Amino acid sequence: VFERDPLGFLHDAHREFGDVVRLRFWPELYHLVSDPDEIRRVLTAEPNRYQYEMPAPETPPGGVSPNIEAETAPRFHRLAQEVFHTGEGMAALTGRMTDAIADRLATWDERAGSTEPFDVAAEMLRLTLMVLGPTLLDVDLRSDVDALVPAFNINARESSLQQNISVFQLLERGEAPRDPNSVAGGQLVGDFVSGLVEDRRRLGPGGTDLLTRLAFDHATDDPDRLVSDEQVHAAVEVLLLAGHSGASSALAWTFHLVGLHPDVRRRLEAEVDAVLGDRLPLAEDLARLKFTKMVVLESMRLYPPVWMLLPLRALRQDHVGGFVIPAGSKIVVSPWVLHRNPDRWASPERFDPERFARREPGAYLPFGAGPRGCIAAQFGLVEARLALAMAVQRYRWEPATDVPVVPDPQLALWPRDGLPVVLERRA
Ligand code: HEM
Repeated sequence: VFERDPLGFLHDAHREFGDVVRLRFWPELYHLVSDPDEIRRVLTAEPNRYQYEMPAPETPPGGVSPNIEAETAPRFHRLAQEVFHTGEGMAALTGRMTDAIADRLATWDERAGSTEPFDVAAEMLRLTLMVLGPTLLDVDLRSDVDALVPAFNINARESSLQQNISVFQLLERGEAPRDPNSVAGGQLVGDFVSGLVEDRRRLGPGGTDLLTRLAFDHATDDPDRLVSDEQVHAAVEVLLLAGHSGASSALAWTFHLVGLHPDVRRRLEAEVDAVLGDRLPLAEDLARLKFTKMVVLESMRLYPPVWMLLPLRALRQDHVGGFVIPAGSKIVVSPWVLHRNPDRWASPERFDPERFARREPGAYLPFGAGPRGCIAAQFGLVEARLALAMAVQRYRWEPATDVPVVPDPQLALWPRDGLPVVLERRA
């Protein structure tokens, strides 16, 4: 049942058995934990209590080895924090983000008014990848997105749980049949990343962007710097993948929900028109785009892009919610389950941005938490708010069909058949 419908399975397991559910997926023992306080305690526990483990022990050809990724994560987190939070930090990034979004949205004009459906989910993959260019890499990705998006996407789909017998069993056996397209996709991404790093090294260490810091980290005197090329490549590859998969999923679902709810769309338009009129947003406008933020937060509640966090292995015996967690067993946390728990959220299936007008509730973890939580939660939230506000400023969209949209638990939660919409330019 798990392989066929992981979201339904996890949801039902929680409803039936409560906040700690023991699941045996041979040969591993897992605990699905859904109590927000216990989750925070486990995710932020000292490193000698729990250890992260990546699925798929096998390195995909041309791809990043999970072990390398785990090794580089702490250093990568620190460098990213420096870029986001020192100097002009997010304020400078906001300007670059706005320009990239405006650039991409301008290409929608030729689609507006057409009766041919426009897949706004696929478009979000391109938009969020393009945003990474000027903000974190100091390169222009406009001419690369059309090749990169499918290359990344094949691999993201391959990690989908439905295709694997089960990610857990795959993890033990490391024998996933490999799609030749996926190998080619991994190769393309690997070559692209090598090119980025080589070009940057030729340009020299002057820049303050994240790519420059990663490419020249070996030349710093920090004791935990990234020394090998393999580590640098892994970090850049993870940045590109994680930097567009979560944000594109968040935006795709947000666009879907806004298209379905004309009342919400009207409130968004009123806010955006009052705060921005027809000019580009500035960093200081974000605080006034309150309803826009509530819409993004509520969309990520209903459709958390990362529907299951990386599993944690207990290095020692622990107690969680009154249950024994044996040493060697694993803990899994599902934001999907947490965000739809009727004991924590009134009418959890309802799309109601007003929930976030009040205090942010505890049972909400779209960015994970602790040492492996999202390195760019703030960046992602700013990006999603800007993209939504700027799209609402310019366009209106509605679902092109009344076929229900099915959430597909890929690497990030994705609308299974895309999101065809009919797009109109606003007067
Ligand atoms: C709204 C958008 C986003 C959401 C909802 C999101 C969510 C998450 C979550 C839940 C994790 C932890 C994964 C786990 O425990 O399994 C994560 C990790 C990560 N995120 Fe995000 N993310 C978003 C945007 C971004 C952006 C824009 C970037 C880069 C610019 C980014 C970079 C990363 C990286 C590099 C990691 C991996 C950290 C590690 O492996 O230690 N994310 N993200």
